[in-house]
This record gives sequence, structure tokens and C-alpha cells, in this order.
Amino acid sequence: MVVDTVSLLLLLMLLLLILTSWSRRNQSDIPGPPFLAGLGPFLSYARFIWTGIGTACNYYNNKYGDIVRVWINGEETLILSRSSAVYHVLKSAHYIARFGSRKGLECIGMEGRGIIFNSDIPLWKKLRTYFSKALSGPSLHRTVTICVSSTAKHLDNLQEMTTPSGHVDALNLLRVIVVDISNRLFLRVPLNEKHLLMKIQNYFETWQTVLIKPDIFFKIGWLYNKHKRAAQEMQDVMESLLEIKRQMINETDKLDDDDHDFATELIFAQNHGEISPDNVRQCVLEMVIAGPDTLSISLFFMLMLLKQNPDVELKIMEEMNRVLSEKTAENIDYYQDLKVLESFINESLRFQPVVDFTMRKALEDDTIDGTKIRKGTNIILNIGFMHKTEFFSKPKEFSLMNFDQTVPSRFFQPFSCGPRSCVGKYISMVMMKAILVTLLSRYTVCPYQGCSLESIRTTNNLSQHPVEDEHSLAMRFIWVLDALSYQGTGI
Ligand code: HEM
Ligand SMILES: *[C@@H]1O[C@H](CO)[C@@H](O)[C@H](O)[C@H]1NC(C)=O
Ligand SMILES: *[C@@H]1O[C@H](CO)[C@@H](O)[C@H](O)[C@H]1NC(C)=O
Ligand SMILES: *[C@@H]1O[C@H](CO)[C@@H](O)[C@H](O)[C@H]1NC(C)=O
Ligand SMILES: *[C@@H]1O[C@H](CO)[C@@H](O)[C@H](O)[C@H]1NC(C)=O
Repeated sequence: MVVDTVSLLLLLMLLLLILTSWSRRNQSDIPGPPFLAGLGPFLSYARFIWTGIGTACNYYNNKYGDIVRVWINGEETLILSRSSAVYHVLKSAHYIARFGSRKGLECIGMEGRGIIFNSDIPLWKKLRTYFSKALSGPSLHRTVTICVSSTAKHLDNLQEMTTPSGHVDALNLLRVIVVDISNRLFLRVPLNEKHLLMKIQNYFETWQTVLIKPDIFFKIGWLYNKHKRAAQEMQDVMESLLEIKRQMINETDKLDDDDHDFATELIFAQNHGEISPDNVRQCVLEMVIAGPDTLSISLFFMLMLLKQNPDVELKIMEEMNRVLSEKTAENIDYYQDLKVLESFINESLRFQPVVDFTMRKALEDDTIDGTKIRKGTNIILNIGFMHKTEFFSKPKEFSLMNFDQTVPSRFFQPFSCGPRSCVGKYISMVMMKAILVTLLSRYTVCPYQGCSLESIRTTNNLSQHPVEDEHSLAMRFIWVLDALSYQGTGI
């Protein structure tokens, strides 16, 4: 018996010795979890799958520092949160591809198609020009008018979305507004917003489920079929909307300049044989989901932050009254002058980000901050983590003081920069300002009793979202004038 225990212990020690020496031989100079004869890659991949990509990245940057080596699906992956390293990758032409499960991307129609996860570089470049054109220049002016009128229209009908207890599902309201704006800017066909939003949400869920799954996942019918169906349904909805669009174009004798929206440009390019119908559909799909997946959730977090920081809300209202008296709310220049609002938006994107990391692939051998990068390495830029660990005077707090002084661009990149940056970065700022100004000039919002950013649960898979259960996200919308008179009477 005693002998057995001793030999067992000896055996265990021998095993440990082998394991550690093996991992030694395999250890590169980059910090990260040990290889442990293959156990390390397995555990790190499991962490990404079970806790979500964003949560796993934060864990590793916390534990090992601002340059970490992990494994996703057996592939070496670096997580960077040091501003100099992040900036290097953003600016470089060697990192303009992304990584993700090939089968997963095929499932959602993004493999070699569209813009967001398209790693066919020549095609991506060509398609990106259509997005750039639609999201900058003259369309920025049209954006303000459409944002103001769409927000106003939905606020006029707020009664329809109010429960008997006087609450509104604020996140859903913002989604409806943003999807309406996207349609009026880029597609312009009659549609059922609620129906489309449901499909968008299911598509997003599928996206974050399949993005880094192992190939075996796609063979297990009962796991995979539901997601495959959700992706297909979204693509079918887009196809039928595009069919309507094609007919509308056909029935118009002569198109004015005004008629050249994003979808029309793509359909013309298809008619000239420059783009395949699959790519037209995928591009319009990605344009339509981009806003609801990012902007509406960012705006929701901003409404929560405003309520938790009444002094900030007051400063924003004062600025709106001051600037608004000089110019009109539909003039784009007016929004450039709203500096307090802009600091608030910046600080919200820093403190409570929705998109807090981005996934890239190294196309060439390179050296970043003295670290050797092999061609083919996966790269995750953990920009949200960077925003909370470098430069800012109150990194872990929400405070407009963080933007009192001009922030050098390499320390603050909510939309990133360089060749593969967010193509909607300029239009997003204008949209957020126009929607917020229109909303705040009418209403002040009150989250459900006892509900705050700290108490609502969030998940951080592909991006940071609130968990939507029952009442927690409901808010009361109170007329600004009523709110002022409450304050006046001291209630
Ligand atoms: C608060 C709102 C938004 C945030 C924080 C945001 C942030 C980002 C970030 C961080 C990326 C990754 C960039 C990179 O890899 O370097 C991205 C990509 C992208 N964004 Fe946005 N975004 C927002 C809104 C929008 C909107 C409204 C649109 C379009 C209408 C849009 C369209 C895109 C597209 C098409 C890409 C992929 C670009 C490419 O791969 O070439 N985004 N966004
Ligand atoms: C080191 O790890 C890699 C995977 O990251 C593996 O392909 C390689 O065979 C390992 N080398 C040794 C000496 O164990
Ligand atoms: C990640 O996303 C999937 C699909 O939306 C969800 O089922 C899962 O619970 C999420 N994981 C975490 C840790 O939030
Ligand atoms: C457009 O009209 C032409 C004839 O005027 C027709 O041949 C074509 O099929 C129509 N296309 C669509 C998409 O309706
Ligand atoms: C907000 O951030 C952007 C960078 O995304 C910067 O250009 C702008 O100056 C910032 N605005 C303020 C008021 O800090």
C-alpha cells in the first residue's frame, strides 16, 4: 500500500517534470499561459468560448500584461492593449485582414463577402469604397435632417411603446429609431421595422455564436441548425427588400442625384457586372445591421450614464440652449459647436464601450515594440482595455475631466483608425449627437427603480451588450418642461 502511494507520487512528479520541460522548450518570449503539452491551448480556447471573446481578452490582459500570447482554435493569437502596439497595427497595411472560423463566416455570409469580416483584400478594397462614399461628404448633411425627423416621429408615437406602468423599453426604442434612419439613408424601401429588428438580433446572436467555433460545431445538427436558419432568414429578408428596390429603380424614368443612395449604387454596379448579387445583398445587410448593433446600444448606455450624472445632463442642456438659440437644429455646423455633448459622448464610449476590441490577422512577418510577429498570427486589439489603463487622469471613473485636455489620438480610438477602421466613424458621431439632442430637448429619462449601469448585467462576447431580461432596461420618459417644474417646486 505504502509502496503504491510512493510510486504513484514518483510517477506524478515525473509527469510534471516532463510537462514543464516541454512547456519550457515551447515558451516564446511573449507572456501568456504555458503550453503544457497542449493543455494550455485547450484551456485558453475554452475560456474564449465559455466567457466570450471580450471577457477572455480582459482576463488575459489583466493577468499577463499589455501584450499576451494565447491560442484560439489552436492558432497563436496575440492580445494587445498597449497603445504603441495598438497604434502600430492600426496604421500598418500588414494587418488589414481579420480572423475567424471559416465555416462560421460562411454560415453568416461574411466569408470572402461584404466588408466587415471579408479577408479577400482586393474585393474588400473595392467594396469599402461604396461604404466610404455613402458614409461621408454630402450624405453627412442629409444624415442630420433624417436623424432629427426620425427621432421626432418615434417620440411622437411614444404612447404606443409605453407599458401601462408608464415605462418604455428604451433600448428597443433606440433600435427602432436607428433601423429607420439606416433604411432612410441607405436603402429607402417601405419596411416593417419590428420584424426586421427581430431578424437583425437573431443574426447578431448567430454571428457571435459561430465566429470562433471549432469545425466540429458545424457538424452537430441540433446545435448548429438553429443558427444556420437565423442567418438564412436575415439574408432572405434582405433579398426580398432588394427585390423591391430593384423594381422601384426600374419604375423610375430618370434618377436624380438624390436617388443615388447606397443600395442604388450597388445595384447599378451589379447591372454593370462589377459586383455579384451575393455581394450586393451582403453589403446592404451589413450596412443595415451596423447601426442597430452598435449605435443604439451606445446611446442606451449614454442615457443610463446621464441619469447617474445629473450635473453632466445639466451642462449639456445649458450648452444646447446656448448654441441652439443661434442656429437651427438641422444645421450640421450646430453639432460641431456642441463640445460638452461631444466630451460626454467620448467619455461614454471610453467608460462603457460597446465595441471594445477588434480582430485582425498579420499578413507579413513584423516586429511590434520588439516582439516578433509571425505571418498568419491572429491579433486582437483590446482597445477598451487600453482606454482604462493608459493616459486618462481618472481611468476607472466616469468623468468629463478625462477630456478636459486634448487627448492625443493614439490613446483614444473608439472607432479605431487607419485602413481597416470603422467606416462609419464620422457619421456615427453626427447621428449620436442629432438623436441625443432631439431626445433630450423633449425628455429626461428615468431608469427603472434601483437600476443602474452597475446593476444591469452585460455580456462581452463579440461586443458589450446588456442582458435583456424583463424590466431591467425599461425607462420612464418625462417631459423636460415637467421635469423643470418639479425641480422648481422642489419635488
Ligand atoms: C457607436 C458606434 C460605433 C462604434 C463604436 C464602432 C466601432 C467600430 C470598430 C472599433 C470597428 C473595427 C475597426 C477596426 O478593425 O479597426 C468597426 C468596424 C466597422 N464599422 Fe463601426 N462602429 C460604430 C458604428 C458604425 C456605424 C453606424 C456603421 C455604418 C453605418 C459602422 C460600420 C462599420 C463597418 C462597415 C466596419 C468594418 C470596416 C472594415 O472592416 O473595413 N459602424 N466599427
Ligand atoms: C510548440 O507549440 C507549437 C504550437 O503552438 C507546436 O506546433 C510545436 O510543435 C511545439 N514545439 C515543441 C518543441 O513542443
Ligand atoms: C455569447 O453569445 C451567445 C450567443 O448570443 C450566448 O448564447 C452566450 O451566452 C454568450 N456567452 C456569454 C459568456 O455571454
Ligand atoms: C426591369 O424592367 C425590364 C423591362 O423594362 C425587365 O426586363 C426587367 O426584368 C425589370 N427588372 C426588374 C428587377 O424588375
Ligand atoms: C472626441 O474624440 C474624437 C476622437 O474619436 C476627437 O477627435 C475629438 O476631439 C474628441 N472631442 C472632445 C470634445 O474631446
